[in-house]
Amino acid sequence: MYLSRATVDFQEKDVMELARYAAQENEVGGVSGYLCFKNGLFVQYLEGNKSTILSLLHRIRDDDRHHIISEVTLGDLSGRHFMGWDMRYLDRKELKDVRLENVLDWIIDELQQERVQERNALEPIRQMVATIEKLRKNQLIA
Ligand SMILES: Cc1cc2nc3c(=O)[nH]c(=O)nc-3n(C[C@H](O)[C@H](O)[C@H](O)COP(=O)(O)O)c2cc1C
Repeated sequence: MYLSRATVDFQEKDVMELARYAAQENEVGGVSGYLCFKNGLFVQYLEGNKSTILSLLHRIRDDDRHHIISEVTLGDLSGRHFMGWDMRYLDRKELKDVRLENVLDWIIDELQQERVQERNALEPIRQMVATIEKLRKNQLIA
């Protein structure tokens, strides 16, 4: 997971378009995850084959439409949790509906620290992943 700041003006439709493009690309590489956007900040969760993720992250880091503030690797979140979500854009309303807005804010706060303490950031990230996974299983989010 990483936090980045947009360097160009992204409107809701631009983020949706970006997620659509990313989903197409990710499907090919067997990558899944989700994307959130708030106040010009992206939070993206990616999972898949390690080397695929590393090369994807290279491309994403090189993308000058944003710059990455910090990254956290969830090495021990083994396996894929979001199979079928090639890149799901979770908009603010959805996050609010499933009461994950505060968790997203918590993640953003942690990842914005000058020196990210991975162990502090891991807690809200794990919480978000586990909650979304459960909501999906119970078909409360598709
Ligand atoms: C916030 C953000 C998230 C992105 N997520 C993905 C992604 O999940 N998969 C992907 O293929 N490209 C993603 N991209 C696009 C890549 O950064 C890059 O533009 C694209 O892969 C084309 O790279 P290339 O021009 O080197 O081929 C993302 C871009 C941004 C700004």
